[in-house]
Amino acid sequence: MSKFQRYTVTAALPYANGPLHIGHIAGAYLPADIYVRWLRMKGEDVVFICGSDEHGAAITVKARKEGLTPQAVVDKYHEHIQKTFERFGISFDIYYRTSDKLHYQISQEFFLKLYEKGHFIEEETEQYYDEEAKQFLADRYIIGTCPKCSYENAYGDQCERCGASLSPSELLNPRSALSGSTPVLRKTKHWYLPLNLHEKWIRTWIENGTLEGEQHHDPEEWKNHVLGQCKSWLDAGLQPRAMTRDLDWGVPVPLPEAEGKVLYVWLDAPIGYISATQAWAMQKNKDWKPYWQAEDTKLVHFIGKDNIVFHCIIFPILLKLHGDYILPHNVPANEFLNLEGNKISTSRNWAVWLHEYLDEFPDKRDVLKYVLTSILPETKDSEFTWKDFQQRNNNELADILGNFVNRVIVLTNKYYNGYAPAPDKYYDNDKETISEIIRIVRRVDELIGEYKFKEAQFEVMNLARLGNRYLADNAPWNLAKDPNNSSRIRTIMHVALQITANLSIILYPFLPDTAAKIQRMLRIDIATWIEAGRMNLIPENHRISPNAEILFQKIEDSVIEKQLAKLETAKLSVNDSVAPIKENISYEDFSKLDLRIATITHAEKIPKTQKLLKLTLAVGTDTRTVVSGIAEHYTPEQIVGKQVVLLANLAPKVIKGIESKGMILMAQNRNGTLAFLQPDKVIENGGIVS
Ligand code: MF3
Ligand code: ZN
Repeated sequence: MSKFQRYTVTAALPYANGPLHIGHIAGAYLPADIYVRWLRMKGEDVVFICGSDEHGAAITVKARKEGLTPQAVVDKYHEHIQKTFERFGISFDIYYRTSDKLHYQISQEFFLKLYEKGHFIEEETEQYYDEEAKQFLADRYIIGTCPKCSYENAYGDQCERCGASLSPSELLNPRSALSGSTPVLRKTKHWYLPLNLHEKWIRTWIENGTLEGEQHHDPEEWKNHVLGQCKSWLDAGLQPRAMTRDLDWGVPVPLPEAEGKVLYVWLDAPIGYISATQAWAMQKNKDWKPYWQAEDTKLVHFIGKDNIVFHCIIFPILLKLHGDYILPHNVPANEFLNLEGNKISTSRNWAVWLHEYLDEFPDKRDVLKYVLTSILPETKDSEFTWKDFQQRNNNELADILGNFVNRVIVLTNKYYNGYAPAPDKYYDNDKETISEIIRIVRRVDELIGEYKFKEAQFEVMNLARLGNRYLADNAPWNLAKDPNNSSRIRTIMHVALQITANLSIILYPFLPDTAAKIQRMLRIDIATWIEAGRMNLIPENHRISPNAEILFQKIEDSVIEKQLAKLETAKLSVNDSVAPIKENISYEDFSKLDLRIATITHAEKIPKTQKLLKLTLAVGTDTRTVVSGIAEHYTPEQIVGKQVVLLANLAPKVIKGIESKGMILMAQNRNGTLAFLQPDKVIENGGIVS
C-alpha cells in the first residue's frame, strides 16, 4: 500500500512566446502524461496541472521583436499552445494561464505572507538602466561577456554557453538587449530572498531526503543529474535573489512603496501551479487544499533541465517559508533533446514544430509519442532524427506491434468466425508465456513508478515481441492443416488473445490511440490497470470485430526526405548567429572604394589549386585579370558572360604567379554557398556602383 492518498503532477508552464516543438514534449509533457495516465488507470486521485507562463522577459522581448504588445503575444501563443497540446493528446486536467486574475491575487497573497513573516530583505542597490529605453535591465534584458567562459552574448541571469548562473553586475562589457546601448547605474529598491540563510536545510532535504528530522523522500529515487546540478549550486554558495523587478509587465508587487514594480517571473510562475489547481478545483467543485497541503499527497514536478534550480531549490524554499505547503516528492527533470546533430533552436528554426507535425501526420500522433518515448533524454541528452523516426515506425510499431495484433485478429476470425475459443491443456510453453506476461506487466508498473518511461515502453513492446515469438514457435497455421490439432490451436489462440488484451492495457499510458484501436478490435473496454496480467480478459465465446484494422502504415523514404529538406531550408533562413555588423565607417571611407560593373569574358581553373579560377573581366576602361577563390562553387562554363560587381581599385596582388587586379563581390550563406551580385538590368561595363 502506498502511503500516498493523492497525486499532484505538474508539467513546466511553457512561456507563451512561441509554438511547441518536440524538445518541449520530450522534456516534460510526454513523460508527465504517461505517468498521469498510468496513475488514473490505477484509480489514484490525481490532478495534472499545466498552463502558460505569461510573464517575464521571455514575453516582453518577443513582443518587441514582433511589434506587438505583451498581452497580444500571450493571447496569441496561449491559445496556440493550448490547442496544440489538445491535438497531441496531453491529458492535463487544466491548462491555465498566469495572466488570470485569480493568479494575480494568489501570487500577491503569497508574496505578502512571506513579506509579513519577514522573509525578504529590502535593499536599495545600483542596477543597470537603459536611458534610451528608459528601463532597468535585469535578467535577459542585459547582455555581456561571460566572466567564466568569455562568451560574448551571456544574459544577465545566465550564460547559455557554459551554463553559469550570473548576475548583471558580473557581466563584462554590459549592453542593453533593448537598445544595444551601454547602460548606466541607477538606484532602485527590491525585495530579496536570502537563499543563503536556508542553505543548510535545503541541502539536507536534497541530499538526504530529510526535512526537520523526518524522512521526506528517498534521494536514491532522484535522478543523478538532478542531484548533481543541485549540489553544484549549493557548493557554489547560494546568494540572495531579488523577487521583484522594475518592469511594467507582470504581477504588481502588492506594496504601496513598490509602484511600477512586479514580481519576479520565477516567483509568480511556479505559484501558478497552485493557482491552476485552485481554478481547477473551483470548476470541479472540489477542495484544492489537500493537493498542496496534505502530507499524504505526492507532488511531482516534470520539467526540463534548465528549470532544475527553480524547482529544487528556490520554489521549495518559498513553499517552506510560506508554511502551508508540502514540498515536491520528486523532480524528474529530463535533459535536452537534439535534432539531427544540432541543438534545437527556436530562433534558427531548427526544430520539429508540434503543430506542423500534427498537420502533416494527423493520424500519427502515437507514432511521435512512441519515438519520443523511445529516445527520452532521461539521463543524458539524446537525439531525434527522421531516419530513426521512420525505422522505429516501420521496424517496431508496424513489424512488431501491428503485425502481432493483426495476426491475432485475422486468425481468430479465420478459425472461429471471431468467437474467442476456450483453452484446452496448457503446455510448458504456454505456462512460461503466461508467467512472462505477468512479469512484464509488473515490470512496466515498477518502471513507470520510477519515472523510467523509456525502459517501461520497451518492456511493453517486449509483450508484443513475446506474442510474435509465441505464435511463430507454435505456428497455428501449420497445425491447422491437421484436424487433430484443433484443441491445441484453441489454447494457442486463447493465449494469443489474452496477450493482445493485456497489451491494450499496458500500452495505454504510452499510446492511448493505439490502445483504444486494439480494444475496439477486441470489443473490450478496460481502463483499469488492475486487470493487467489476467488471463481471462477475452472469455470463451467473446465476439471480436471481424475487421482487422492496420495499426501502423509504413513510412516511405520520400516522407522522410521531405522533412529533411524542410530542415535544410530552415538552416538557410537563419538570423541568429549571423555575423555581427562591423564598426561604423565614415562616408569618406566608403567613397574610397571604386566599385564597377564588369563582365566575365573568360575563366579557367588555375592548375594545382582547389579553389582558384583565373578570370578575365571586361571593365569598360580596360580588360583585366582577377584571381578568385570560387572554383569549388562554379565551373568556368557556368560563369562566362555573367555581369558582376568588381572592387576595381584594390591594390594588385600576385597569386600563384598571376597578378590579380581587383576583387569580385560575392554574397555568402552561413552554410558556405556563394552567389554573385548582379545588376537587375544590363548595365554597361565600367558602370559605377555607389
Ligand atoms: N516558463 C518556464 C520555461 O519555459 C518554465 C516555468 S515552470 C514554472 O522555462 F514553474 F515556473 F511554472
Ligand atoms: Zn559562460
